[in-house]
Amino acid sequence: MSQTWWRGAAIYQVYLRSFADGNGDGAGDLAGLRSRLPYLKDLGIDAIWLNPWYPSPMADGGYDVADYRGIEPVFGTLDEAERFIEEAHELDIKVIIDVVPNHSSTESAWFKEALADPAARDRFWFADEPLNDWQSIFGGPAWTQVPDGQWYLHLFAPEQPDFNWANPEVHREFEDVLRFWFDRGVDGFRIDSAALLFKSDTRYEDLDEVHDVYRRWREVAGEYGERVLIGEVWLPDQERFALYLRPDEMHTAFNFDFLSCAWDPADLRRSIDLTLATHTPIGAPPTWVLSNHDVTRPVTRYGRADTTFAHGGALHGTPSDLELGYRRARAAALLAMALPGSVYVYQGEELGLPEVEDLPDEVRQDPMHARSGGTNPGRDGCRIPLPWSGDEPPFGFGTGTPWLPQPESWRKLTAEAQRTDLGSMLNLYRTALGLRRELLGDGTLTWLPLGEQVLAFTRDSGLTSVTNLGTDPVPLPAGKVVLSSGPLEDGRLPSDTTVWLTEL
Ligand code: GLC
Repeated sequence: MSQTWWRGAAIYQVYLRSFADGNGDGAGDLAGLRSRLPYLKDLGIDAIWLNPWYPSPMADGGYDVADYRGIEPVFGTLDEAERFIEEAHELDIKVIIDVVPNHSSTESAWFKEALADPAARDRFWFADEPLNDWQSIFGGPAWTQVPDGQWYLHLFAPEQPDFNWANPEVHREFEDVLRFWFDRGVDGFRIDSAALLFKSDTRYEDLDEVHDVYRRWREVAGEYGERVLIGEVWLPDQERFALYLRPDEMHTAFNFDFLSCAWDPADLRRSIDLTLATHTPIGAPPTWVLSNHDVTRPVTRYGRADTTFAHGGALHGTPSDLELGYRRARAAALLAMALPGSVYVYQGEELGLPEVEDLPDEVRQDPMHARSGGTNPGRDGCRIPLPWSGDEPPFGFGTGTPWLPQPESWRKLTAEAQRTDLGSMLNLYRTALGLRRELLGDGTLTWLPLGEQVLAFTRDSGLTSVTNLGTDPVPLPAGKVVLSSGPLEDGRLPSDTTVWLTEL
């Protein structure tokens, strides 16, 4: 693979705790992931991005990191992690891991030291009283008091104290952490909450100082050959967003505008054009993301009357026509995979899993649920352990009881059931990823004017993608159909369907 593999890569997101359980304790782990590497190879992805795998009390699913240089014992050992990296590389699959620089865990050595010794508090934000009235992103106040009376800042859960990036020791620590993992062969980092690191008296998002950090990280990545930095940068202002992708900063960042978009031709066209206009001048490849571990699964979202993604679970439980959502999710997958740049597939997306919205409150683990006083359902519904095989839970996930319950109805959605069904979501993803590798990825597009309800464009290779978002079937442009998200109607493209065509 080339040095710039990341420009057009298909990156599969592994939420390790829910991927596959190798030791029967009900939680996914490295043994489970290693045993499923052939599945990922067969799916046709270029890279894996793993959510945090570090030792963690799991107050926020591992985003409360207690030790940035280790592996959570529930997931395995450092030795297993190294073997996993090697095995992935042998299959020509790159490995990207998560780094969490905004905050740590109350169980980290630095925070424990800070609690024990008030003179060791400068690595975090401690003060005699809250310096502002900020609310935590998970609900409730962003300041928590410690027994000796001081308060510390946490933009997320109280178990996730924010680092003080005005302290040079924090900079040195993270550069060292990057090297620790680059030395062990990881190909890149997904940078969590990347715009939040610096705080002023009044703001915590997108302060200018943050760019110096990523410039420095880019230098570190460069020392190892072109390893990749991928930002989680949720900024609506595209000009500000683009600053993170300047040639000496991060390589790419997630496209949350596209992810949040309604299933609507004008909105999708706006988002695609905006994305291209933002990325092209700086030479950064766009990314296309339909889901991740924080958002409602597309099958459920696209089946609702309001198909946007809204934070805070605002649409949770509103009626969803899952058949319609499934059909649209298929069409959306082909649309996303045809666009220029890299694409993300969140585990289970390739199985067409819906959001699980009827979890009993007592099994919910996401702190968003508890901290919102139960008004926000949290993100557990998109983190249910994967169904691999068989007719009943745990569906081959492992031998133990999964840490979140799987719906009985998932028997139709197991990887095993879909493998032999040519019309399954799994086979659609596999075929699309294969064609994408040959004909799509990095580059440009040319829009075809096929009407307001139709998103149609041709790529440099000559492949044309056409998505019909209107209600009536539309005629297809000339070409040979190589893949379709659903059946055609008398040679016409029905509603909520995407087709790929090559030149005749
Ligand atoms: C990011 C992660 C999310 C986590 C939060 C705090 O948004 O994607 O899962 O809860 O950061 O680390």
